[in-house]
Amino acid sequence: MTVLVTGGAGYIGSHTVVELQSAGYEVVVADDLSNAKADVIDRIETITGKRPVFYKIDCADKAALRGVFENHPIDAVIHFAGFKAVGESVQKPLQYYRNNLDSTMTLMEVMEEFDCKKFVFSSSATVYGPNNPYPYKEEMPAIQSSSPYGWTKVMIERILTDYVTAHPDCCAILLRYFNPIGSHESGLLGDDPNGIPNNLMPYIGRVAAGKLEKLTIFGDDYPTPDGTCQRDYLHVVDLAVGHLKALEYAREHEGVEAVNLGTGNGVSVMELVHAFEKANNITLSYVVGPRRDGDLPAFWADASKAQILLGWKATHSVEDMCRSAWDFARNSK
Ligand code: UFG
Repeated sequence: MTVLVTGGAGYIGSHTVVELQSAGYEVVVADDLSNAKADVIDRIETITGKRPVFYKIDCADKAALRGVFENHPIDAVIHFAGFKAVGESVQKPLQYYRNNLDSTMTLMEVMEEFDCKKFVFSSSATVYGPNNPYPYKEEMPAIQSSSPYGWTKVMIERILTDYVTAHPDCCAILLRYFNPIGSHESGLLGDDPNGIPNNLMPYIGRVAAGKLEKLTIFGDDYPTPDGTCQRDYLHVVDLAVGHLKALEYAREHEGVEAVNLGTGNGVSVMELVHAFEKANNITLSYVVGPRRDGDLPAFWADASKAQILLGWKATHSVEDMCRSAWDFARNSK
């Protein structure tokens, strides 16, 4: 079975390619490398002993995508490619809508041309918006978000749902991720964004490595036990395995399913900072600053559907996540 992984050189995509190849799938990666490095493909080869086929293309380039489908018998697609910086999306909404929607719809059109019916989509817990109570459950109304980035996830979920309604022999799994952190046990893959990281764990990694002076904790006056925000952090390898399970499900089924991928536990920013210090025997410099616009005080997953439908459950501890994040951060240039 051949799987096209768009955005397969990125953080979650690359970990998923490793799991797919290890499970015996043929993998074709399409990535424009706009937020990833080409040597990730070498690293995947080092880990798995097999080099995925790689195309440096933009998924909105229909002719290039057609070329991929002409060259390979693609049975299913896992679609990660897309812009993902929440704050940037507020500044550049048009760029986010154009890129994320265009690439997805172009991909779907080419899949239809080549009779490819299985789609796994990289969605986000952000689709639950600011008003749903946590833990979030898949049947809650996912009709709003707090950023253009988040709205692209809401809209793409809608587009896929409408498409499968019109083509009931297709299957789309909408995977709503919580907060993936950590890295592959080899220390060769991880979250290494260009520029100053927006997300907490890569920022912590750069402070620990001495590349950034100190972490600013965005607010300690939230209505949570220690005043800092709580999130559902999950190990990126668990998340990657979740994609494998979703693909196995999609192979056997038709229709649309939204599925949360999280641990079901809330961890605060302060708890994560201390867990990182303890797991790695490091002291992190940090200060408490003002709240960041758009942050919700707390949310985590109800992860029961993933277990019932896909047979998936997160297995790594917060300590595993912190240790592996540091293994990667201290080795990256
Ligand atoms: N935080 C800090 N300091 C930092 C960075 C983050 O205190 O330098 C805090 C944030 O305020 C938040 C927590 O760490 O409380 C987690 O922040 P992240 O940026 O790592 O993650 P978010 O929960 O904000 O964002 C994640 C995904 C998005 C998704 C969003 C949905 O990265 O893709 O959840 O709410 F849209």
